[in-house]
Amino acid sequence: LQPSPLKDKTIMVTAGPTREKIDPVRFLTNHSTGKMGYAIAKEAAHLGANVILISGPTSLTPPNHVTFISVESAHEMYEKVMHFYKSSDIVIKSAAVADYKPKNVYEQKMKKKNGDLIIELERTTDILKELGKAKEKQILIGFAAETNDVEKYARKKLETKNLDMIVANNVSQNGAGFATDTNIVTIFHKNGESIKYPQMSKKEVAKVILKEIEKIVEGVK
Ligand code: PMT
Repeated sequence: LQPSPLKDKTIMVTAGPTREKIDPVRFLTNHSTGKMGYAIAKEAAHLGANVILISGPTSLTPPNHVTFISVESAHEMYEKVMHFYKSSDIVIKSAAVADYKPKNVYEQKMKKKNGDLIIELERTTDILKELGKAKEKQILIGFAAETNDVEKYARKKLETKNLDMIVANNVSQNGAGFATDTNIVTIFHKNGESIKYPQMSKKEVAKVILKEIEKIVEGVK
């Protein structure tokens, strides 16, 4: 059996949600469990890659034979991703990073008051966009979690974030997206090609993503 072209490549994978603190007991987050990203990290390690898994808070056990880095907020994820970027050959960004964080983080627990509460939010750094700008030799793979106009938004992210490939999932479909053991994805390549897959386990989805990345490494795509 031929070794994979990904053998000995350094692959950084991000997974899971981020948590954006409101006060010491509350935070903003999303439904990501890390299943998709951990499956990719595990399959990449099987192929002989050096895997760095940067993960937000999840209840999963990190796969064997990966360098595991645990983070909490979008900012922490940004710092760790940037730290490992130069030494990475391939980056796969399956994490569900918060787009907004509370502008002020209260040091003490916020007390209930009468009436409504307004929490002002500000944008977090778009990590993937920064990676796209700073790209040297790296192969950059993004995800797109959409509920509508999946192809249009995925292609737009592929272009504006300077990616080589994007994995789109319609997160409003049953059996796709957040928290499920399966996913339904379409892969878009930079050259305009796209491949639509049926519902598969996240392990199988991880395998097809890595197969498409192998083609990029080999110069076929
Ligand atoms: O973890 P699971 O429960 O298994 O669920 C899997 C998943 C639904 C989280 C996964 O399949 C998925 O779609 N991940 C991407 C989620 C997401 O944040 O998508 P997005 O379309 O909002 O972002 C587009 C891309 O930009 C993503 O690669 C994301 O990592 C990246 N991004 C987004 C915001 C930000 N501030 N920085 C980023 O890098």
